[in-house]
Amino acid sequence: MPDQPLAETLTASADAFVRFEGVSVTYGSGTAQATPALSPTDLAFARGDFVCIVGPSGCGKTTLMQTLAGFLPPTGGRVSVGGVEVSGPGPDRGVVFQQAALFPWKTVAANAGFGPAMRGLPRTEQKERVEYWLRSVGLWDFRDRYPYQLSGGMQQRLAIARALANEPELLLMDEPFGALDALTREKMQEELHAVWKRRGMTVLFITHSVDEAVYLGTEVVVMSRRPGRILERIPAPFARIAGERDIRRIKAGADFVALREQVLELIWGEGG
Ligand SMILES: Nc1ncnc2c1ncn2[C@@H]1O[C@H](COP(=O)(O)OP(=O)(O)OP(=O)(O)O)[C@@H](O)[C@H]1O
Ligand SMILES: [Mg+2]
Repeated sequence: MPDQPLAETLTASADAFVRFEGVSVTYGSGTAQATPALSPTDLAFARGDFVCIVGPSGCGKTTLMQTLAGFLPPTGGRVSVGGVEVSGPGPDRGVVFQQAALFPWKTVAANAGFGPAMRGLPRTEQKERVEYWLRSVGLWDFRDRYPYQLSGGMQQRLAIARALANEPELLLMDEPFGALDALTREKMQEELHAVWKRRGMTVLFITHSVDEAVYLGTEVVVMSRRPGRILERIPAPFARIAGERDIRRIKAGADFVALREQVLELIWGEGG
C-alpha cells in the first residue's frame, strides 16, 4: 500500500499500545504522611504516538511516567505496554529523567554506547551510533571524559544521547530539554522529531513548555493540579507535517498560536 495516506495508516493501527487503567499513586501512608499525587487516571495511546504532558508543577506528571517506566508501582490500577502489565523497568522503555542519571564510572562514549552494547549490536554499529549521537548533542570532543567533568546541561545532553542511541520502542522523557540553552534546545527538538519519524517509536514527553508540547506532540495531555487528573487531551497536527518542517514558519502560523493559547488557558485555569 505505498500510496496509502499517512493519516489512514495511523488510524488503522490506532489500538492502544500503552494503557493506564485507573492508575493512582499516593506517597507515604497514614493520615499525616499520605500525599495523594495522582488521581485514578485512564489514558491510552497508540504505537507511534508522540504524547506530550503538561500541567502545573507538582501535579503528578513525573509520578505518572514513573509507573510506566516501571520504577514506581501504582497504588491502584494497572499500566500495560503492548498488552503486558508493567512490573518493572525494561530495555523496551528508554527513560530520560528530569535530572540526568548517568553512569559516573563510565566515560561519555561508554555512557552513550550503553544501550547498543547491552543489546549486543555489532561493534561497528555501536561505534557509529555513539559517534552520530555524541556529535548531534555536541559532545563528541568530550567522549573520553567522565560525567563529573561536564556541566549540568552537558550531562543532560549526554543522557538524551544515551537514550536515543538505544532507539527504544517506547521513549519516556521527563522535561529533557529544560536545562538546555535555547539554540541547543531547538536543535534537540529537531533531532528527536527526526528519529521519532524515522523509527516510528512511541514517545511520552513531559514538558513545562507549551510551545514545545504543541510543536512536537501528536497530542497534548493537560493535567490538573495535584492530585493530578487528565483535564483534556488535545490533538496536535504539527508533528505529522510531511517533509521538511520550517520551525519558524510553523510557530508563527495562526493555527499554532491558537492551539498554544488553548493549552495555556487550561493551565492558567489550574493556577499555572
Ligand atoms: N518520593 C515522594 N515522596 C512523597 N511525595 C512525593 C514523592 N515524589 C513526589 N511527591 C509528591 O507528589 C506530587 C507529584 O510529584 P511529581 O514529581 O509527580 O510532580 P510533577 O508534576 O512532575 O512536578 P514538576 O513539574 O515540578 O516536576 C508532588 O506534589 C510531591 O509533593
Ligand atoms: Mg516532574
